[in-house]
Amino acid sequence: MTTVCVTNQKGGCGKTTTAVNLAWSLTRLGKTVLLADLDPQGHASLGLGFDTDLLDRTIRDCLVRPSLPVGEVFLPFSDKLDVVPANISLASLEQELAGEPERELRLRQALVSLGRVYDYVLIDCPPSLGFLTINALVATDEAIIPVETSSFSVHGLERLLETIEMVERNTGRRIQARVLATDFHGNTRYSREFHETLAQRFGEQLFETVIHHSVVAKDAAARGLPVGRAYHHSKVDNDYMALATEILESAPVVEVENLREWEEKLFGPSVRGEEIVFRLQAPGVRRVQVAGRFNDWNPSLGEMRQDPISGVWSVRVRVSPGSYQYRYVIDGEWIEDPANERHEFGETGFRNSVVLVGDK
Ligand SMILES: Nc1ncnc2c1ncn2[C@@H]1O[C@H](COP(=O)(O)OP(=O)(O)O)[C@@H](O)[C@H]1O
Ligand SMILES: [Mg+2]
Repeated sequence: MTTVCVTNQKGGCGKTTTAVNLAWSLTRLGKTVLLADLDPQGHASLGLGFDTDLLDRTIRDCLVRPSLPVGEVFLPFSDKLDVVPANISLASLEQELAGEPERELRLRQALVSLGRVYDYVLIDCPPSLGFLTINALVATDEAIIPVETSSFSVHGLERLLETIEMVERNTGRRIQARVLATDFHGNTRYSREFHETLAQRFGEQLFETVIHHSVVAKDAAARGLPVGRAYHHSKVDNDYMALATEILESAPVVEVENLREWEEKLFGPSVRGEEIVFRLQAPGVRRVQVAGRFNDWNPSLGEMRQDPISGVWSVRVRVSPGSYQYRYVIDGEWIEDPANERHEFGETGFRNSVVLVGDK
């Protein structure tokens, strides 16, 4: 599963048009796609014909409760394309989640509980660099940055790139960011010169595909259809098919080490004050316990509970500051924590996982 967000804090540069039509083009090349609308304006949902006023559940529910099965939220558009819709109820979420720990990880967590059902998850970002866009960047493997070639506007692009780098540093994951020239007027010198400027600045990071200007883009959206449905083989339809092909042909190889670091963040032990939260992903097992110095290595005092939705096993343990060796006991078998790189040898000569509480 590859996650791609379409982002640029500037409004009107073609994010939603790109998210919707790239999603549709990928399905025509045989891929299954989930399109997540992360904009309170709900333009991607509207662009595929969903009435955003009538929704029982939206992406907001996934962010409030990331273990919620996406199956309870998505709306099918076709046999290969599902949509997690959004509406104005998303606008107040940032304030509501203020002070909540790990609130930038919400979307990532929601997508983890998805499993590997889709080939691609596309995220349509709102026109801002706030909490929602950070959630998208934290969750994403690739970022598409549409830039309108009809207005000379690289304004804000540097800040967006800095934000992407900041997220890369904090998560230890690389985001493949590429710029997409949109609203291209092929017959004007202006558009061509601007495209040339983008090519000089971004080199390989600029898509070869450009999206031409055409009224069919707006018209199809107003009819709640992808361009390829409303105007099959029109110029813009062909452009988005070319974009989908370019993306499939340049699919990056997932860097295993970064994935590991990421898993540590999601599943390793996390310390909050004087409490350790142990989290482990162990599908298909019956019982998981944790044993360590904090419970005299007695697994029956460390029963972990499985979240019925995400399948993640967890338990909270209160301790005083110090260093704690531990192991998981999975169906009776003692193992080190696969999501924790820190180890120490215990008194009995076995290597154990270690978690530090406080700054001792
Ligand atoms: N290639 C294009 N040609 C003509 N109009 C376009 C094109 N792409 C987008 N538009 C129109 O420009 C407006 C802004 O596009 P949109 O995708 O909604 O941008 P964003 O999501 O970045 O705000 C919309 O009315 C859309 O229909
Ligand atoms: Mg939009």
